[in-house]
Amino acid sequence: MKITKAVIPAAGLGTRVLPATKAMPKEMFPIVDKPAIQYIVEEAVASGITDILIITNRGKEIIENHFDRAPELEANLISHAKENLLDGVIASSKLANIFFLRQKETKGLGHAINCARSFVGNEPFAVLYGDDVIISKEPVCKQLIKAYDEFGLGVLGAKQVPAEDICKYGSLKIEPLKDNIFKCTDMVEKPTPDKVLSLYSILGRCILPPEIFDILDNTSPGVGGEIQLTDAMCKLAQTKGMTMVDFIGKRYDIGNKLGIMKASVELALQHREIGISFKEYIKEISKTIE
Ligand code: UTP
Repeated sequence: MKITKAVIPAAGLGTRVLPATKAMPKEMFPIVDKPAIQYIVEEAVASGITDILIITNRGKEIIENHFDRAPELEANLISHAKENLLDGVIASSKLANIFFLRQKETKGLGHAINCARSFVGNEPFAVLYGDDVIISKEPVCKQLIKAYDEFGLGVLGAKQVPAEDICKYGSLKIEPLKDNIFKCTDMVEKPTPDKVLSLYSILGRCILPPEIFDILDNTSPGVGGEIQLTDAMCKLAQTKGMTMVDFIGKRYDIGNKLGIMKASVELALQHREIGISFKEYIKEISKTIE
């Protein structure tokens, strides 16, 4: 079955970037001139996704506004001879069929995904975490969809993390299948050193079969009292099996301060309008860094 639906969970509280996230969703933080979530929606669209559900919560209405038309602003740009900015303003409202749903209580990523059941129906679907921007030649979501098309199992987008950091992530038990695709049969969240299964960890993207919803219904709150998506994916991996793609792409975690700064600097260096002058600036300022 062709994958055309995606869910973007964006209802987290973003406590690691407080106080910036007190009134501003981290998903709307700008990376040069576009909010983080627009990069994510564009990746989904470039992967063949036509329908996107963004899970939000109270205070995140500006995400909806961003993907809507802005008639007053558009009229203002036209009357002030700034038509060159118009396309950029309108583009975000035309990317896909974008739906919004509120997660009424912040009960974890697994709970947020379970809110998408009636949107998804009985189809496999993509999940793109709302605070993970991934830049790549071939969209990572598309790399995962290809693996789903080939093996017919749920797919985890993963990369190796440094050995000293694996205890902060989840660790996947894998065996090679083909090229950068592996079979995943087990996983453990935030492992102690003796429980590490591999250095591969799920980073921001997956394809899930609709069976995940029944599993989520029966998943009790885990770490932090939240319903963890990894607990449900672990069950799926142990019973039906999942595949894992060692994806090709550069991931930026917009949920933490360092990730935000890395994304801003690296994407500014590549930006067609400011790239050259920003590079000069970085060269100059780096001379002053000890
Ligand atoms: P994170 O754990 O990275 O986001 O969740 P968070 O909860 O905002 O982070 P901190 O620890 O408070 O800083 C991964 C993704 O799941 C979403 C988040 O928005 C993020 O995109 N999420 C998390 C939800 O949609 N609902 C939740 O209840 C929890």
